[in-house]
Amino acid sequence: MEKVVREEKIYWDKQFRKERNINKKIERSKSQWDNINFPELLEIKKRVGKLKDRRVLSIGCGTSVYELFFLKNGAFVDFSDLSTEALKVQRKITKEFKNKVNFFQSSAEKLPLPNNHYDIIFGYALLHHIEDRNSFFREISRLLKGGGIAFFVDSYRIPMTDYVKRLPLLYKIYRKMQPVSISPVDEELVKHGEHGLREKDINIYKNFFTSFKFIKICFWNIIFRKIFRGKENSIFLKFITIVENTFLKLIPSLKKYCNIFLLVCKK
Ligand SMILES: C[S@@+](CC[C@H](N)C(=O)[O-])C[C@H]1O[C@@H](n2cnc3c(N)ncnc32)[C@H](O)[C@@H]1O
Repeated sequence: MEKVVREEKIYWDKQFRKERNINKKIERSKSQWDNINFPELLEIKKRVGKLKDRRVLSIGCGTSVYELFFLKNGAFVDFSDLSTEALKVQRKITKEFKNKVNFFQSSAEKLPLPNNHYDIIFGYALLHHIEDRNSFFREISRLLKGGGIAFFVDSYRIPMTDYVKRLPLLYKIYRKMQPVSISPVDEELVKHGEHGLREKDINIYKNFFTSFKFIKICFWNIIFRKIFRGKENSIFLKFITIVENTFLKLIPSLKKYCNIFLLVCKK
């Protein structure tokens, strides 16, 4: 394993070992994605189509509960992550689906999985941790079936970030607002000027796919979801999402100030 990937694994194992309240998280997760209000997840829901007996691969799954949506709707889900600790927690989260899940400890740049195998690939807050994105996107294209779709959600680098970085306090607040953690790879990228990803950083990989869409999402939603942590299904957040969607439809030029993006890659 490359040194930096080894450091990344140590970092994430340590993070997930610290994770407490896992029972509370599992309890809460039971209703998640049934009526969750996060715009990026709603965008994915709109595009996945029928899930029964579909093969889904989650990459960099961590201890996320979003994958329960695929399982509850009848799909088979393979979970992969660099961190062994994350996979231990993921086994607990998905225990009621144990005939429909598999777990693989592996780096996302080279997965021990067959060609043309998956209908859907899902990665939330993973892309900015990937050091060799070229190998990564080649892997995604290899793993997807013809017509299969990959969804990646990550932090979008808004144009003002470079100015904000000159003001340390503001920059600290900006980093806190990002839905991502600072791991060794991330730290290295930030040092080299990458704070979140730009459309042009990602568009260079579009040749691996037949269709490639970069959708900017979440204007103020991300702030409210921090405030309403644990109450993700609240009516207030639903209202915020509807208002935000309308607002971004009416003034599309504001999308360049969104906090996150959804990448949809079709093979
Ligand atoms: C910010 S966490 C996101 C976890 C989860 N997807 C979520 O939304 O809660 C990033 C995850 O990516 C994993 N990861 C980081 N680098 C990786 C790599 N090169 N290959 C596979 N997984 C990686 C970490 O172990 C961690 O679980």
